[in-house]
Amino acid sequence: MRSSFVDKFFIHGGNRLNGTIEIQTSKNAVLPILSASIMASSPVTIEKVPDILDCDNMLRILDKLGAKINVANSNVTIDPRTIGDIKIDCKLSRTMRSSVFLLGAMLARFDNACISMPGGCNIGNRPIDIHIDAFKKLGVRVEQEGDEIHFRVEKFCPTKIKLKIPSVGATENIIEFACLRRGKTTILNPAREPEIVDLCNFLASMGAKIYGAGSKKITIYGVDRLDGIRYKPISDRIVAGTIMCATAMCGGDVTLLNAIPEHNHSLIKKLIKMGCQIKSNSDIIHIRSDSRLNSISKLSTGYYPKFPTDLQSMILALSTTASGRTSIKENIFSNRFNTANELKSLCANIDIISSSNVIVNGVKELHGSEVNSQDLRGGASLVLAGLVAKGETIVNNVHYIDRGYEYLENSLSKLGADIKRIR
Ligand code: EPZ
Repeated sequence: MRSSFVDKFFIHGGNRLNGTIEIQTSKNAVLPILSASIMASSPVTIEKVPDILDCDNMLRILDKLGAKINVANSNVTIDPRTIGDIKIDCKLSRTMRSSVFLLGAMLARFDNACISMPGGCNIGNRPIDIHIDAFKKLGVRVEQEGDEIHFRVEKFCPTKIKLKIPSVGATENIIEFACLRRGKTTILNPAREPEIVDLCNFLASMGAKIYGAGSKKITIYGVDRLDGIRYKPISDRIVAGTIMCATAMCGGDVTLLNAIPEHNHSLIKKLIKMGCQIKSNSDIIHIRSDSRLNSISKLSTGYYPKFPTDLQSMILALSTTASGRTSIKENIFSNRFNTANELKSLCANIDIISSSNVIVNGVKELHGSEVNSQDLRGGASLVLAGLVAKGETIVNNVHYIDRGYEYLENSLSKLGADIKRIR
């Protein structure tokens, strides 16, 4: 992904969206799968890795650990046999949260790992206490020195772990660590996202014994080795949801290929309620939007399969021009309404009640202005607002958007939007 801090999007609002678009592979499936690939006893090939900054950074981290990496037409082959270092590059791990997903795989393979407090989008505090508690229960010694945290396996003890929050990353770390350690480990209250299921499918294809992925209880029977395979991860439900929301907002008729409807069940229900027509089969979603949307009056984010926090910003943008009032409650992250103030400079009518609740009163028209992305999904929602705003909108800091969307401007202009990247 070619992206820099000065890149911005220049958008001329008012176009409808029409056409067909293929949805990229899921960032949040590929990142833990790339992490888990270091546990293989032979090379692993992951197909259609999206060309986004977070994947670039993950591959840089694996490269700095000593893995041999080859990229050919977005297929990435990782030979983990040359990995020697146990220290996850501090600077890189500060750039993104998903570096923390390497811990389970590193401990499984090397009994040791060292990480600096992980970074990521500024959507609220991003503790890793649940990860640390789980590792301690599994027999790992954890010591913090400055902003570095050292993990060392003292004596693996397979056990039952009940997560106080169904943390995606913590679930992935436990699965990665336990699947290559003899014994039965059980996770109660695990995360149930499709990306968890995909990680478990990937590991099972390599020889792991994992049962119950996607349910409220996951059981892992550790094995001695995992063999390298070729694997194609699922498509990105948040990117698909973003394109659906863009079509709903702009009006139009768009077909999404390589999109999995049941991964977006809760969004599809909301968009139909707002007035969209949506039809789908196993891997295609067709959405039409002909008139001004009705508000859904309230939205509350929750753990999968409830409404995903990662699409909250898109519904926030949609609500700014829907007819009526919408109350949005963010229950997962403590600071995911950064974008509300940016939307207000496009003349959206938003009352910020608290850091977890806003009230939106839909207006007939937004007006273009210069706005600043402050996080990945918030940045995408500013683009959606710019697509309908009267006149020109400039969206700054698109490097945030480039973390998770493969050239979003190309996808949208292919559908008829007037948007271009300015360097
Ligand atoms: C994953 O982040 C995703 N990232 C996020 O997507 C997504 O929003 C999030 O899951 C929730 O679905 C990736 O998969 C790379 P969590 P993760 O642990 O694992 C609290 C995007 O836009 N928590 O499920 O970091 C935490 O603060 C990104 O693609 C603790 O308190 O999320 C949050 O409130 C943004 N202690 C809640 O749990 C911990 O040790 C859920 O976090 C861990 C988490």
